[in-house]
Amino acid sequence: MTVLRVDELSVSAGGQSLVRDVSFQIGAGERVGLIGESGSGKTLTASSVLGLLPDGLHATGSVRLGEQELLGASERTLSRLRGMEISMVFQEPMTALNPSMRVGSQVAEPMLLHGTRPDRRAARSAAVELFDSVRLPDPEGTARAYPHQLSGGQRQRVLLAIALANDPALLICDEPTTALDVTVQAQILALILAATRERDTALLFITHDLAVVASVCERVLVMLDGEIIESGGTREVLSSPRHEYTGKLLAASDLEAR
Ligand SMILES: Nc1ncnc2c1ncn2[C@@H]1O[C@H](COP(=O)(O)OP(=O)(O)O)[C@@H](O)[C@H]1O
Ligand SMILES: [Mg+2]
Repeated sequence: MTVLRVDELSVSAGGQSLVRDVSFQIGAGERVGLIGESGSGKTLTASSVLGLLPDGLHATGSVRLGEQELLGASERTLSRLRGMEISMVFQEPMTALNPSMRVGSQVAEPMLLHGTRPDRRAARSAAVELFDSVRLPDPEGTARAYPHQLSGGQRQRVLLAIALANDPALLICDEPTTALDVTVQAQILALILAATRERDTALLFITHDLAVVASVCERVLVMLDGEIIESGGTREVLSSPRHEYTGKLLAASDLEAR
């Protein structure tokens, strides 16, 4: 079963083409990596899927979540799907969280908004359970904390809890560990892997780091200058890259030595 199907997606700003003819599919429970250097078009591709392109940018082609076409869908349709069928975890958790709201309430909010829990009390206790499942220490106490009282890694765990609250079919992570130090990175990656496996959630994982793709994703899409230049099973692509650019990425990572 295909969860997400992107066909000939192109994004432009004025006359400038930023993403060109991007096509890929993600099956139920499948974990796909989107890799490429900074500026290659990864975030714009993800933003197109969520209907969150910045003003002035225009997308053409098709983005289907199950049977639903998302490109050109109404804001009403998109907001019904966001946080419900598709969720996203961004690079910088501080900007994604509301600084003046306790994190427990921020996890309860998407459940109340989409009516997946009957009332505030049920949503709150579900939030505490989610905090436990993303291995936040003292889930009850953490739920009462404000974002600035938590570490970067803990904030990213909160964001993951928010993203998973309504058990979405697709989770998009855009460089979720880039802002974290190396040991915390590894913990968050392990958590994303475990959480998506447990729930059979499809994952689109954006990164510039091949080692991350190798540890999390079954399939990889390599993006360069707005286009997907290579795709395939992670193992095949990493062991015998067909495109020169993929070879360069590989040589620059510490994977080749393994
Ligand atoms: N709002 C915007 N207006 C114009 N150009 C943009 C905008 N956002 C991104 N771009 C350009 O589109 C290209 C792809 O950006 P992005 O998808 O953010 O890259 P990545 O996530 O791979 O680093 C870059 O050249 C970037 O400068
Ligand atoms: Mg980006």
